Order: sequence, then C-alpha cells, then structure tokens
Amino acid sequence: MSDRLQELEALATQVRGCQKCPLGRLRVRAVPGEGPPDAEILFIGEGPGYHEDQQGRPFVGSSGQLLESLLTSIGLTRQQVFIANVIKCRPPNNRDPLPDEIDACRTYLDRQIEIIDPLLIVTLGRFSMARFFPPTARITRIHGQPLPLEGRIVLPLYHPAAVLRNPEWHQDLQKDFATIPALVASIRQQRSASQASDEPDDLEQLTLF
Ligand code: SF4
Ligand code: URA
Repeated sequence: MSDRLQELEALATQVRGCQKCPLGRLRVRAVPGEGPPDAEILFIGEGPGYHEDQQGRPFVGSSGQLLESLLTSIGLTRQQVFIANVIKCRPPNNRDPLPDEIDACRTYLDRQIEIIDPLLIVTLGRFSMARFFPPTARITRIHGQPLPLEGRIVLPLYHPAAVLRNPEWHQDLQKDFATIPALVASIRQQRSASQASDEPDDLEQLTLF
C-alpha cells in the first residue's frame, strides 16, 4: 500500500472513532471522504446528509447525482477525484454545522489536503469556501473565480444542493465546472516547469564537487 493511502486510511479510522464534538454521538456513520490518494482534484462539500450518514460515503444522495453528472460533463468519473467534507459527521436534521463543530473537525480536512496535495481544490458551498476565502466573500459574487494558493488553485463553486433548490444557478455551476480541466492542466504544467528548473540546479551543484 502506498504511504499516502496508508496515511489516509489511518486518518479515516481516527475519524470513524472521533468524539471531539457532539456530532460524534449523533451520527450513524462518520464520512471521512473517499478517492484516490494522489487525486489531482479535491472536492470539499459541507457535511454528510441523511444518505451519507447511513452509508458512510460522501455525496451519495441527490447532490451526489448532480455532482456525478457534472463530472461526466467534463470527462471525469467520481473514482478519479477525491471527495471530502468540512465536517465528517451529520448535523441533526441537516442543520448548518456550528463554529465549534467546524473547529473540532478542522485538522482532519487539513491533513487530507496535506496528504493528497491536490492541484485543484474545488469548494462546494459557503462552508468550504470559508476555509480559504475571507468572511466578507460572497459565493454569488466569487463563484467560478480561481484563487492561486500555495502552489495550487482553489475554485469556489455553488453547492449542488443549493443549485437543486435554486435551478436558476444551474447554468452558472455548469459553466464554472467547464473551467476545471484547463485549470488543472495549467497547474500541472506549472508544477512540472518548476520541477524541471530545479534539476539543472542540482546538476550544477553536483559538478562543483
Ligand atoms: Fe469528530 Fe468531526 Fe465527527 Fe465532530 S464532526 S465527532 S470533530 S469527526
Ligand atoms: N452534501 C455535502 O455537502 N456533502 C455530502 O457528502 C453530501 C451532501
């Protein structure tokens, strides 16, 4: 097993046993997230809903169906991307997660980002957007605008559930999704260019000795 896979599995085991906030006692199953350990794209939703809580898997309800069809529209399957959430256990009656719960859960997502080291992070909805953007940022204004951050790009999108409630946003979400392949390609290119420019330095160093 690769190191990354092993680390992600260890983290998922920790999440499944976590009682760091009151949601730990209310869940049926924790939802650590899933996907390839070396995924180029990490999607971050809000938190598990009813079906996710039942199955222990992210985005398996109606939001998940919309997410899958959007992925298909850009030539991807859900098996090719990593899908996680800000909060790993379902808030009762799907209420918004509380600030204390988000804080308690923070380290799990932070570690997932570190381990996977994705080229592109796609935030779905305002709770995951708030992880990377200032509190004054409004999703209706900044959706689809890529933010370069620490050698990757963060792309804030509408949450699929919000689009199911507000069908007039569907076209925006589709358009924003369509920008994903080019964004990934640009970061991929940047990273390989910076790796290539490191190599001659190493060689020069070697010739000194
Ligand atoms: Fe732990 Fe996060 Fe679940 Fe709270 S929501 S119990 S912090 S895994
Ligand atoms: N909505 C989310 O934000 N996350 C899920 O996993 C499912 C629905």
